[in-house]
Amino acid sequence: MKQLPDLLRGRDLLSLHHFTPSEIKLILDTADDLREMQKKGEPHQYLKGKTLGMIFQKSSTRTRVSFEVGIYQLGGYGLFLSASDLQLGRGESIADTARVLSRYLDGIMIRTYAQSDVEELARYADIPVINGLTDLLHPCQILADLQTIRQVKGRLAGLKLAYVGDGNNVAHSLLLGCAKTGVNITVASPEGYKPRPEIVSAAVEDARETGAVIRVVTDPVEAVKDADVVVTDVWASMGQEAEQDARAGVFAPYRVDEELVKHAREDYIFLHCLPAHRWEEVSAGIIDGPHSVVWDEAENRLHVQKAVMALIM
Ligand code: CP
Ligand code: NVA
Repeated sequence: MKQLPDLLRGRDLLSLHHFTPSEIKLILDTADDLREMQKKGEPHQYLKGKTLGMIFQKSSTRTRVSFEVGIYQLGGYGLFLSASDLQLGRGESIADTARVLSRYLDGIMIRTYAQSDVEELARYADIPVINGLTDLLHPCQILADLQTIRQVKGRLAGLKLAYVGDGNNVAHSLLLGCAKTGVNITVASPEGYKPRPEIVSAAVEDARETGAVIRVVTDPVEAVKDADVVVTDVWASMGQEAEQDARAGVFAPYRVDEELVKHAREDYIFLHCLPAHRWEEVSAGIIDGPHSVVWDEAENRLHVQKAVMALIM
């Protein structure tokens, strides 16, 4: 078992914006090593005896299972903490929760609504905090996406990625992740649903270092033209259930289907963080077709989050 560098020890993962391109490369390289070790059945108990608390204020399949299995495979233990069971749900402050949990745990993963809540938790916790999705960002997902793209395409810098759909948490972290790794990204969203300007500005700032081209357009065909990677996500995210019907109308022209991907490169790959709606944002023919890498993408959540935990905790 090779020694891991201490470069990121003690750090939080709140946003990819806080990491340098070489730190992101370290996470992806470590994730590849961990994947290989796991496949070969080699021991990799980097977190023996350590404990991760996992706070969930929203549903989850992949994040919950991959973090819980991941910490176990690293020799540690994961506690599922439903927000409704914690005193947090009865009004105990985030700051007090952070201070108390820091006395028991070695790391906290949290999935919640407001990014500011995750930032507050990290501010008061003495242990690393990992953002497992907020309304604003989904950094763990995008690390897995980058690992998957690199695994299939053999590189990141210089590729062309099209994200088609809602300018949501996934789109935001994708903008930052692509900017940090030199992937040219075009986001196509309808008016009123574009990524937030402060995230686009942060991505443009990050892209200065890598030369990535960051674009936000309205026309999905323009985004997908000659793309190496096509990505989409649900039209109504968790917490937006009441807008589901209205959004279905607005986003109908943004469905990733056989017609749209004709504009992509012949060897394009399709990514979706899942869960997917085959009757909305993507056709069954695309997500279940030969260009789709969504199962590898889901698997890589395990490897990349193990890398994050092993490096920061
Ligand atoms: N992609 C993702 O985060 O999935 P879950 O909501 O199932 O965790
Ligand atoms: N944008 C989606 C991602 C789910 C993993 C949501 O926030 O619900």
